Amino acid sequence: MQNFLITGGAGFIGSNFVRYLLERYPHYRVVVLDKLTYAGNLANLRDVADDPRFTFVQGDIADAEVVHRVMREHAIDTIVNFAAATHVDRSLMEPDEFLRTDVFGTYVLLEAARAFGVERYHQISTDEVYGQVLEGRSREDDKLHTRSPYSASKASGDLLCLAYHTSFGVPVTITRGSNNVGPYQYPEKVVPLFVTNAIDDLPLPLYGDGTQMRDYQYVLDHCEGIDVVLHRGQVGEIYNVGTGSEMRNIDMARLVLDLLGKPHSLIRPVADRPGHDRRYALDVSKLRALGWESRHTCAEAIEKTVRWYVDNQWWWRPIKSGEHYRAYYQRQYGSRGLA
Ligand code: NAD
Ligand code: TYD
Repeated sequence: MQNFLITGGAGFIGSNFVRYLLERYPHYRVVVLDKLTYAGNLANLRDVADDPRFTFVQGDIADAEVVHRVMREHAIDTIVNFAAATHVDRSLMEPDEFLRTDVFGTYVLLEAARAFGVERYHQISTDEVYGQVLEGRSREDDKLHTRSPYSASKASGDLLCLAYHTSFGVPVTITRGSNNVGPYQYPEKVVPLFVTNAIDDLPLPLYGDGTQMRDYQYVLDHCEGIDVVLHRGQVGEIYNVGTGSEMRNIDMARLVLDLLGKPHSLIRPVADRPGHDRRYALDVSKLRALGWESRHTCAEAIEKTVRWYVDNQWWWRPIKSGEHYRAYYQRQYGSRGLA
């Protein structure tokens, strides 16, 4: 492994992973292929832009011609696929992009992996494919119970990966991560949305009764988990990545407000998300057995994230004041009495 194709590398987790990889492995070369949707942002990569080992290509993973050209021109031996439509609420409004990128795009990348005989194809997946877990913790061989167009598309991508391993011998691995938080997360996801709203004394729209639970992990812990699977994981296998503990949304909201010294009265209960999964919870013992450990609890991950958003308003203010974000906010929260 030396020449990496990182798809979706201009997004939140992908850009953190690119930075991580270039810092950790001086001889690796990285090509980012990213369509630059609303969620892709070259500012996320500005501190690696001048690195001679880094190349950026704007393009769509569902476009076989572009994918094959990049594979050929850069002698790619490893693909890590972060590219996806990623927000559950948007998948409820417009599912088509989710199917096109998360399913068909994955298929195009797998075909390229097969044609070029890569050393590894790694798929970035999510704990959401297991569906809500009211009790216990999801293990990698649990049944998939997807409940949103987002999770259904991601699960389809996972199944295609496993099929390409079985049918064609493509050396596939999959990680299923819990909710990530940290630098450069688009402020549609709940933690950066709440932090940036709270900084501006705006209400925090809490869906339903706020007792839903998520495993909020620090993005670099997730990146380390992916690294461990790339280098020590077994081909054909799936690995869960998360802290292995959960936090209620209401407690996350209160923690964010406490860290910022803002009143809890900013929490605004609003109409729930349709089909809202109550709880995700991962059993991460399979990855731990490879020597990986999460370095942050949910609370520590959120604390670091709050600090980053306070210190990096240059990054998120232009996004939140932009036309795309404002139109989305109006559509998503206007009928809930905000915006
Ligand atoms: P993001 O929305 O921040 O970034 C997605 C990136 O993919 C963007 O840069 C976007 O421009 C790009 N992209 C979208 N469609 C594309 C296409 N057709 N071709 C090329 N590029 C395209 O997402 P993220 O939060 O960084 O998530 C990255 C991956 O991790 C996704 O596969 C997601 O399902 C998975 N994941 C995310 C989380 C989380 O909490 N954010 C948790 C578990 C797994
Ligand atoms: P989100 O960040 O969208 O991630 P996911 O749904 O993929 O886990 O949401 C995390 C949790 O926060 C989820 O239980 C829904 C809730 N939530 C709110 O309460 N209000 C909001 O405005 C958003 C976006 C999410």
